[in-house]
Amino acid sequence: MRFLYQDSSGLTQDEITSTAQQLSDYIKYLQSIHSSLTYEAPESSINLPSDTDLLKDVYKLRQEKVSSNLKYVIDIGIGGSNLGTKAVYDAMFGFNDLIEPDRFPKIVFVDTCDGQYLSTIQKFLNKIDDPKQVLINVISKSGTTTETIFNLEIVVQALKDKFPDIHSRVVVTTDANSQLWQMAQERRISLLEIPKNVGGRYSVFSAVGLFPLSLVGVDIQNLRDGATGILSSCLEEDILKNPAVLSAVVLYLNSISGKLINDNFFFHPQLESLGKWYRQLMGESIGKEKDLQGDTVHVGITPTVSIGSTDLHSVGQLYLGGPKDKLTTFISAENGEDVAVGRKLYCEGLGQNLEGKSANQVMNAILEGVKIAYFKKGLPFTQIILSDLQERSLGEFLQFKMVEMMYLGKLFNINTFAQPNVEDYKIETKQILNS
Ligand code: PA5
Repeated sequence: MRFLYQDSSGLTQDEITSTAQQLSDYIKYLQSIHSSLTYEAPESSINLPSDTDLLKDVYKLRQEKVSSNLKYVIDIGIGGSNLGTKAVYDAMFGFNDLIEPDRFPKIVFVDTCDGQYLSTIQKFLNKIDDPKQVLINVISKSGTTTETIFNLEIVVQALKDKFPDIHSRVVVTTDANSQLWQMAQERRISLLEIPKNVGGRYSVFSAVGLFPLSLVGVDIQNLRDGATGILSSCLEEDILKNPAVLSAVVLYLNSISGKLINDNFFFHPQLESLGKWYRQLMGESIGKEKDLQGDTVHVGITPTVSIGSTDLHSVGQLYLGGPKDKLTTFISAENGEDVAVGRKLYCEGLGQNLEGKSANQVMNAILEGVKIAYFKKGLPFTQIILSDLQERSLGEFLQFKMVEMMYLGKLFNINTFAQPNVEDYKIETKQILNS
């Protein structure tokens, strides 16, 4: 993975370096957390990719639950409990689910409580006649999230009369001793633990993400290797070699000069869910009412997700001609499958110079054209270039962004790991349902 920012970020190297120096002590702190290999601090999620016991637990349960009959993993969770899984699944398989109907196992994500969708899910589950074809993974750190518990009821109720031993086809992933944990223990349902200090949006490398991904053919070892590989550069004290520090500083300095939107422009449609994972990571981590001293600050950067080249045809005009309130991150991959048109064109004479060109050549020309147009307009941007769209590269991106967010939270002097205002609405909802 490469992170490029020079000449296009709207900042001088001196500005970047002097702000980055504020992070020196925090880099050392993260290094000490990493050396401890424990889960004592909120930043401990950086230790997940090197936790060998975790990997053993995931593989052991996978061995118990998976046979060649498995067709559908029903992933029930929301927010940090499913966005990371969906990001990797969609990047590798999910985007093609419609046009690859015969590839199994597939993950079916059940997050929000939409009556029409859940009714379709029930009809779909009614057609399953072998319990081994389905595995339900319910994921909730708190174990009390309304949508998740409701959806678990819907799914289990659709199957339990047909399969009296439905408990054996459920795996619960949650905090030790949450109410959900206790319920699972009482019913002898298989359990996977989320370490106490690992928050939802930092949990993709815990059992939250690793277990369901391991069931559908994602090489979770490679995903972890990507994460551990990039982590050493993200903990590098020489800030010019530390992409997470550089990226956080560029985001921070641009935001305080009015670029309050960070548009993440993915030039691969199958990365849209990865963008949504990042949107949550940035939104919940940085959007804060209070700083660490309890003063009211109302800080945040609004993350948006755009897809190239599709969205150039919807919001390109706004981005190039509208308010200069954005820092853009262009994300693309260097290598991947490709397909070319022949030298003799069906639509000959339309003046596009497409003879013999491949899809990647066309897409690269569009991306390069967009970058030049942004540069000429003085619109700041950075670039992340992945090697490909495979596990190792995805692991690099996920880990890089989680550490970047820790640095960004430090610069904003806020609690990166809390989400007090999300809890506000959850409490109100429970009150309404209880009345
Ligand atoms: O990142 C977070 O903390 C949140 O998005 C949670 O993941 C989300 O609210 C779901 O909570 P839980 O995992 O407790 O069901």
